[in-house]
Amino acid sequence: MPDLFSPFTLKDVTLRNRLVMSPMTMYRATDGNMSDFHLMLLGSRAAGGFGLVFPEQLAITPDGRTGTSCAGIYDDDQIEGLSRITSMIKDMGAVAAAQLGHTGRKGSEKKPWHGKQQLPADHPDGWQVRAPSPIAYGGRYIYPVHELSIAEIKALHQSYADAARRALAAGFEWLELHFAHGYLGASFLSPIANQRSDAYGGCLENRMRFHLEAIDAVRAVWLERLPLTMRLGCDDFNEAGTQFEDAIIAVAAMKRHGLDFADLSLGMNTDETQNLPYTEPGFMVGRANRIRQEVGIPVGVSWNLGIPAIADSVIRQELVDLVFLGRPALANPHWPLWAARELAHQDPFALLPEDWSWWLRNRPGSPNSHGLPAPSAAPVAVPKFAQA
Ligand SMILES: Cc1cc2nc3c(=O)[nH]c(=O)nc-3n(C[C@H](O)[C@H](O)[C@H](O)COP(=O)(O)O)c2cc1C
Repeated sequence: MPDLFSPFTLKDVTLRNRLVMSPMTMYRATDGNMSDFHLMLLGSRAAGGFGLVFPEQLAITPDGRTGTSCAGIYDDDQIEGLSRITSMIKDMGAVAAAQLGHTGRKGSEKKPWHGKQQLPADHPDGWQVRAPSPIAYGGRYIYPVHELSIAEIKALHQSYADAARRALAAGFEWLELHFAHGYLGASFLSPIANQRSDAYGGCLENRMRFHLEAIDAVRAVWLERLPLTMRLGCDDFNEAGTQFEDAIIAVAAMKRHGLDFADLSLGMNTDETQNLPYTEPGFMVGRANRIRQEVGIPVGVSWNLGIPAIADSVIRQELVDLVFLGRPALANPHWPLWAARELAHQDPFALLPEDWSWWLRNRPGSPNSHGLPAPSAAPVAVPKFAQA
């Protein structure tokens, strides 16, 4: 039976454990370029024991960023900076993953701590947002949306392929296409955002055409021996939006087009959600597990899995294959080491790079003087996850 610390192999890539640092946009890039800040952030999580480490979403075009301080992979000049990050992640024993995305109608945004309001197209830090249909998201996203023409959709697929080529050149070994969170891919799937009457809108077959063509374009340049994955907004939690049953069909179609793994997340195509159990531990696990079983594809999932016993149990029960951690990875670079101690792993320091762990194993000092909290004695209530 696998546990949180079992290796995981997909295609020619083996992760040292089941722990993924989930992509997180940090709003600290300049002209799409990541900096020493990102090297520190990602290098420390790789050194902290995560098996797979994602930098933030990398935009495939400048207008695919969330805001002007977000990272991109739309220019060959960005390859060098990205290579520094992948080398650091590898050097610390993790595998480097890239998430390629386009924010669609949710782009052109202020930093969250400056209000996260959308900026108009004529603002120096704003741009004309583009999406399947000319429908503004609403709420904070109020400005007119440009409806993508067929030629523009084809150009975006070329941008995906170009970005994948750059990701390969930069040394990434795992590629995820971002089709979640109300961004471009998510909005093509959702009838709330996609009201086109051409081959890219209407029935499910048409609403998933954008994704299948993106996968085809990327698969043509991304090496067959490396994992090609995507994060899907598999449920809008709104009766007018993306339905989970449709998402199952979409993932099965993506698998036929060469997808190796699915990371299941929220649709987020509307703020008007119904029965979204946002604060429940692992509330997307049931959906991920159903896709794993029905489609026959390995899956990962995030959302409220930061308690070690719960994260471990979803792997032990083989509900999912990988656990993605967002906020816990931000809060604690050594989350894997902490979790290993909580779960009574026989050699927690094995999670760290060899030279680093040598000191902790061989220079123990007085009991518990290494500064790590003693494992908590209180038993953890692990929820029973029902399949969605
Ligand atoms: C600061 C921050 C930035 C995020 N940026 C991204 C992103 O770039 N791409 C993405 O797919 N998800 C993004 N997310 C979502 C996380 O990857 C993750 O799916 C979510 O936080 C749920 O996991 P958690 O409960 O472990 O935090 C972000 C989350 C946070 C907190």
